[in-house]
Amino acid sequence: MPNLHKSKYHKSEHVGSGQEKSKHHGGQIYQFARSQQLPIFSALTTVLDFSASINPIQPHVDWQIIQQQAQAALLHYPDSQQIALKSALAKRFQLSPTQITLTNGISSAIMSLFSAIKPDKTLLLTPIYSEYQRAAETYSQQVIELDQGTLDQIDITDISDINQASEQTARVSKALDSLTENSIVVLVNPNTPEGQYRSPSALQAYLDTAHKKQSWVLMDESFLPFIGFADHFSVRPQLISYPKMIVLQSLTKYYACPGVRIGALFSAPHALDNLAWPSWPLSVLDEHYLLQALADEQHETRTDDFLQQTRASFVKALEDCDCIESVSPSSANFVLVKTTLKACELVSRLAEKNILIRDCNSFGLGAYHCRIAIKSTENNQTLIDALHIIAEDFPALDDMTPDETKGIAP
Ligand SMILES: Cc1ncc(COP(=O)(O)O)c(C=O)c1O
Repeated sequence: MPNLHKSKYHKSEHVGSGQEKSKHHGGQIYQFARSQQLPIFSALTTVLDFSASINPIQPHVDWQIIQQQAQAALLHYPDSQQIALKSALAKRFQLSPTQITLTNGISSAIMSLFSAIKPDKTLLLTPIYSEYQRAAETYSQQVIELDQGTLDQIDITDISDINQASEQTARVSKALDSLTENSIVVLVNPNTPEGQYRSPSALQAYLDTAHKKQSWVLMDESFLPFIGFADHFSVRPQLISYPKMIVLQSLTKYYACPGVRIGALFSAPHALDNLAWPSWPLSVLDEHYLLQALADEQHETRTDDFLQQTRASFVKALEDCDCIESVSPSSANFVLVKTTLKACELVSRLAEKNILIRDCNSFGLGAYHCRIAIKSTENNQTLIDALHIIAEDFPALDDMTPDETKGIAP
């Protein structure tokens, strides 16, 4: 049985931040509906949820066929070998079916992996998806958080004299040096909440160091399909030579289906066969939905075309809003914005209009950042219009007197 006593085990180098962060998620539409006393069905169909980054392009599926298939299969257990789905995914991600383990969503896979490995040390490149922090806090003896910026700023192949190194470089070097066979290094690419993509070569030095130490590497590529499926975008080709590297591939973002719970772990062939895993992680409905979604050959082109056409104009429209100070460059289907009024204030003003965006305070980014998903052109425009109306009530930062700007982050 996994040890569930956080306080007994856990030693974090970011004391005090974890508990707060780990409670937060985007996509809380049910909670929102209850708080507003909205009937759930009405909330599901009317609330504009920009807080979860779900592909606005839905794959073409035939619900009548899915219903028939699921209904016929309802009286039986699902295929425990998941042959059809694994081969469809293998084709899509250029892998062998023996490299695929299916899970009921990546969030639950994160918890299962940490509970199986019970790492003595976890290295998180932060800010990071909160489930990694929650899992590390629960199962890891020690958690070390390094800022994601170190991936670009510090050449770890060139730290010859630790005594001469800057404080930050010395910290990174010490953290990497302390990795053990039972440590986990977690990277998310493209990252969240920023949506910045790094090529495998840009991450190689970190991967090589973890490999040398024989540590586990969890590489979360959940948003990578929004960049492309080609092998060179991914670390997937390296899986064969690194049995302790696992790629976590959420399927709920790209295939627009967080309501069904389905994700995949990619590894070296059979590398995860001995993991304690539920026998039937997926329901027949999950399987039939995803099989059809994967069979839609136009989904990739439609998604790419849509993002190409929409992202730049959405970013420009956001930048033109007085309550948005800046928008970080993103390669994904969401953007991180810096706000001119407190993010929590903006979130609650938008919530009054049934629009949800994600306050990024819990990512450790301070009080002035939000993550906003890119949705349909029409939905995006509704958000932009709402932001302009809200901005009318709040003077733009530039126009504020020094007294008014007190307490506002730079
Ligand atoms: C980086 C990242 N990985 C994984 C997940 C989990 O996805 P799911 O549990 O829907 O598969 C999320 C959800 O927001 C995420 O942001």
